Amino acid sequence: MAMRPRRSVLYVPGDNEHALEKAKKLAADSIIIDLEDSVSPANKEIARRHAISVIREGGFGTREAVLRVNPIETPWGMADLHAAIGAAPDAILIPKVSYPGDVIGTAKVVKAAEAAPNTRLWAMIETPMGIINAREIAACGPDPDNRLACFVLGTNDLLKESRARSSNNRFAVVPWLAMTLVAARAYGLDVIDGVYNDFKDDSGFRAECEHGRTLGMDGKTLIHPSQVAPCNEVFSPTEDEVAWARKIIKAFEEPENVRKGVITVEGKMVERLHLVMAKRVAAIAEAINARSRVEEPWF
Ligand code: COA
Ligand code: MG
Repeated sequence: MAMRPRRSVLYVPGDNEHALEKAKKLAADSIIIDLEDSVSPANKEIARRHAISVIREGGFGTREAVLRVNPIETPWGMADLHAAIGAAPDAILIPKVSYPGDVIGTAKVVKAAEAAPNTRLWAMIETPMGIINAREIAACGPDPDNRLACFVLGTNDLLKESRARSSNNRFAVVPWLAMTLVAARAYGLDVIDGVYNDFKDDSGFRAECEHGRTLGMDGKTLIHPSQVAPCNEVFSPTEDEVAWARKIIKAFEEPENVRKGVITVEGKMVERLHLVMAKRVAAIAEAINARSRVEEPWF
């Protein structure tokens, strides 16, 4: 079972050359080079040129390189998309996806331009319409022509559009996060939580990582290098979780258990659904270990 950890997904503004070079050495699982909201209209063309050359140059190691383009209906959207296709990042992140057509339309352009087969599409879910249509958007996933791999929550945009507040443990936002999460899971997609703006507040950030992890998120989008290490820690399976997973896998391999649906491990009922979960935990842990073997020791 090949797994790609997407615990820490760091945004870097496309016009910030220094931060882009720095990002290639950080322990983030994925880097989103942004052409959209973190780049001013005056810098859109410079950012595009720079982002494309950074992706072409490579040097991301095991990190995924993702390019967030501007919405197709803006003056920059189509040029961003064609430039992205030419640079062949691991994924193109489509902002403000509100209808399945936003994914399907982009996928058609990608197909017509004969994009590299490894380039996936990721979708930002960050509008009220996107939340309402999360199921239909996620349903684009099984069609390989759509290349859809991942949903990314845009919580700042959701707060803006809904007029809700982020306070009280994201009380207002949780139903939208959960709706997006089950829609994604129903069609086998990954889901990445929104950003935590107050990047100097370490304990608040960690608590929000835990909150997202509890909701079932695969990882969190980040805005600052200081957020990478705690995020990786929270979204990695713990040693106890991995040890327990291995015990379950081993127990089901015992000759007396191979035909059983339910067994007892250390006094607890364990079913075959737990075996599926255990195999996933073990595979994620192995993928994380494999990454740290090829990257620098601080990974
Ligand atoms: N990726 C890579 N490196 C980053 C970074 C990022 N997202 N944010 C900051 N850095 C680097 C800085 O360049 C600086 O490098 P240096 O020490 O080698 O000079 C170091 O990390 C410390 O940065 P700091 O001075 O604490 O922050 P800043 O004032 O330079 O930047 C922000 C603060 C918020 C403007 C910046 O972190 C940022 O642009 N984040 C991403 C925003 C974004 O993309 N938003 C869109 C999605 S919500
Ligand atoms: Mg947004």
